[in-house]
Order: sequence, then C-alpha cells, then structure tokens
Amino acid sequence: EGAVPEELPTQRLLVVANRLPVSAVRRGEDSWSLEISAGGLVSALLGVKEFEARWIGWAGVNVPDEVGQKALTKALAEKRCIPVFLDEEIVHQYYNGYCNNILWPLFHYLGLPQEDRLATTRSFQSQFAAYKKANQMFADVVNQHYEEGDVVWCHDYHLMFLPECLKRHNSNMKVGWFLHTPFPSSEIHRTLPSRSELLRAVLAADLVGFHTYDYARHFVSACTRILGLEGTPEGVEDDQGRLTRVAAFPIGIDSERFIRALEVPQVEEHIKELTDRFAGRKVMLGVDRLDMIKGIPQKILAFEKFLEENPYWRDRVVLLQIAVPTRTDVPEYQKLTSQVHEIVGRINGRFGTLTRVPIHHLDRSLDFHALCALYAVTDVALVTSLRDGMNLVSYEYVACQDTKKGVLILSEFAGAAQSLGAGALLVNPWNITEVASAIGKALNMSDEEREMRHQLNFLHVTEHTAQQWAETFVRLVMTNASGAVAAIQV
Ligand code: G6P
Repeated sequence: EGAVPEELPTQRLLVVANRLPVSAVRRGEDSWSLEISAGGLVSALLGVKEFEARWIGWAGVNVPDEVGQKALTKALAEKRCIPVFLDEEIVHQYYNGYCNNILWPLFHYLGLPQEDRLATTRSFQSQFAAYKKANQMFADVVNQHYEEGDVVWCHDYHLMFLPECLKRHNSNMKVGWFLHTPFPSSEIHRTLPSRSELLRAVLAADLVGFHTYDYARHFVSACTRILGLEGTPEGVEDDQGRLTRVAAFPIGIDSERFIRALEVPQVEEHIKELTDRFAGRKVMLGVDRLDMIKGIPQKILAFEKFLEENPYWRDRVVLLQIAVPTRTDVPEYQKLTSQVHEIVGRINGRFGTLTRVPIHHLDRSLDFHALCALYAVTDVALVTSLRDGMNLVSYEYVACQDTKKGVLILSEFAGAAQSLGAGALLVNPWNITEVASAIGKALNMSDEEREMRHQLNFLHVTEHTAQQWAETFVRLVMTNASGAVAAIQV
C-alpha cells in the first residue's frame, strides 16, 4: 500500500444555485449588510469538513451601478459567496417568467399557466432565451473562479442549462446537477416546448441527482422517450456511449441543530409562553412558503370541514398557519394570497368567538428559535403539499418533537412521504374529507401509537442527515467524472 498522507487536501467545491444563501440589504452607495440564511444546503455543507465550499449565485437584489456591485462582491467574499448580477429585465424573464411561471408549476404537476395561456405562449420564446442567457451568465462566473480539480455542483430547475454551458467550455470539469423539485412524469415534461433542449443540457453533467427514486425514473423515461436515448440501470447513455449517471439522493436536515436549539434558554422561555397561551387547546401547525404547491387553501378547507363535523373540538383546537411570502411579483402568487386570506377570514368569522379564533394565519417568516419553539409545542403538524420535492418542514418538526411526540400528517405527494411514511399519517391533500378525518385521528391518537410513530420518524431524521446527503453526492461526482471522461475518450 502506498503512503497515505495524514491529512487529505480539502476538496474545493463550487456550489452554484440561483439564490445565494444570504440576504443583502443596501445601506449606502458602497455599503451592504448581509445576513446568512442557514437553509438546508448551507448547514449541510458547513458540516462536511473535507469540502471547502464557495457559493455562486444571485444575491436577490438589483445592483445596476458598478460601485454597488464592487462593494457587494467584496462584502460577499467574506462569506465565501460570489455574486452573479442579473438586471431587472433578466430577472423578470428568467426568474419570474421561465423559472417560476413555467418550470415550477409544470414540475409540480400544475401544468402550464392556465389563465394567461396565450400570453404565456407568446412570451415563451423570449423567456426561454432569457433563461439560457442567465444560465450562461452563471457559467461565466463559474469559469472565472474555477480551479483545476474543483467539483462544480449545480442546483435546481433554475440552472438546467448550466451543465452544458460548463462542459462546452471545459469538458474535464467535474459537474453534478441536483434537482430540488419533483421531476414529473415524462408525459408532463413532454408538453414543454423546450423539452429536448433542457434534457440534453442536463445530461451534459457527470451525475444527475433527485430526491426520490420516482423522480429519477421519470427523468430517465423522459430521456428515453423524448430524446430516444438508452436508459441503463446506472443512468442515460447518449449516442456516443457516454453515460450520465442518474440516481436518488434524498436530502435530510442538520437534526442536531434543531435538537440543540430546544435547550437554548430563549427557546425554553418561548415554549413556556406558547404553552400557557394555548392551554386547554390542542395546537396544530402549518409552516409553508405561500406557494400554490403547498396546498394551503385545501388544508384550511379540510380544517373547516373537521370543525364543521366535530363541534366538540371547535373550542379545543387551534391551527397556526405560518405562510412565508414568496415570489410576490408573480401574479399567480398574488392571487393565492388573496384567496387564502378570504378563506381564513370566512372560517374565523364562522367559528370564532369574541375571544378566540380557530385559525391564526401569519404572512411572514419566523426566526429560527421562534420556529423551533413552535415546532416543539405543536400536537399535530399538517404538511399537505399538492406536490413537493422533499419538504423539510416535516423533518424539522419531527426533530423538535422528541418530548411531545406529536403526529405528522403528511401528503403522499411530498418526497418526504417516501422516508417518513411509516410514522406519519399519509393523506391525499386533494381529498378534503380524508384530510379532515386524519385530523380527527391525529387528535384522538393514543399515547402509545404516537410514541411508536414518532420513534420511527425520529430515527430516520437523525440518521439521514443533510451532511451525509452532501458527502454522498459530491463523492460520486468525483468518481463519476473520471469514468465519464474515459468514456468520451473511447
Ligand atoms: C424551492 C426551490 C429553491 C428556492 C426556494 C425559495 O425550495 O427548490 O431553489 O430557492 O424554493 O424560492 P425562491 O424563488 O425565493 O428562491
């Protein structure tokens, strides 16, 4: 055996995602304040010691002037972040348009936009062009910062063209692409006018990853049916025999972070306050971005049905719905907000008293500690997405429930149903009657059953962490890349 160096060199990783894990607020001509948002991906990669990650993405703000751009670039560098500057027109066409009005609903089985279908069809070409242009802008920034041996990890539906842009520039680059949303049945993907171009661009990657086996299978079918390529047990082979590996890598969370948070005095205090505030009532919780895919109106209607049919519970249960505003420039999202407000108002008017309402609905996000406290005091969590790539709210809830052992009601159309299905009550979110009866079942469940169900899920959430997810994917990109290059050379 050869000599093994004591310390392996750290592998550099370029993580490319539409959005950087920071929120940037401009304070002056050349000053910015930055806040790191510790989402799943950030904590996953912070935990992996052998990789040194740099982030490349859009800072979420328009910075038209050079002074501002320079200052922001400098401030971000301290956080290992590198910005891609997108002007307002590109953001409108690429992000609001092609990404969030076309790909997002389509990948979640909501189809192409309905009401303004003709308008959408007309603007489709320009939005697709902007999408490609934006992807090339991301690629240019990657190329500027790339050093030989780096692994480049592209994320999500915003960047399906990126693998092709990168490989065209440097075929030796090790490139992985991971989709955080579902990949729909090939019959749905077929309706997309740019269906083939997108698939080919993704296939330029060395490794393509999805949250579940089903999404991976749909992707391979789309490649075989639409592009006429060969599906193999390992992935997709192109006309020249080059293999793109395709596999499922279910993400997890940094469960320790949530478990530890429950011991922070401020959180303990908050838990106590909430417990007092809702004494005598069972607490049900929903935490979602205010997005069509989350099924918020359907969830609230199911709760209404439950109250309708169970007068006993009207005074004894409360639903807290945290709805985090998102993509507020897209008309579909604006419509959804009004729709949800209308339903909540109606139900509170119908079942509320002078001192109590059955639904507390908040249009905002909560900070990490407030969220953990809320998870911990909740008796039943309602995750009823119409479709969802994975849904980590369900994981976070389980991580915070080791004392209370609350019940998770989970949509069978969330990726998480594949992993937490054994402990959760699985429901079809479109079936309001079924969800209403799951609510009844959850509220009446015996301690033994709750404990048994919680235990199954807690084990899964603590054993399948985000860190392992990231390690597994990146290691495979590294090995896969050399194999793929060899195949190209043959
Ligand atoms: C989903 C997507 C992410 C995205 C997030 C927030 O989880 O998979 O890529 O960042 O939603 O949406 P936004 O449009 O605000 O980035």
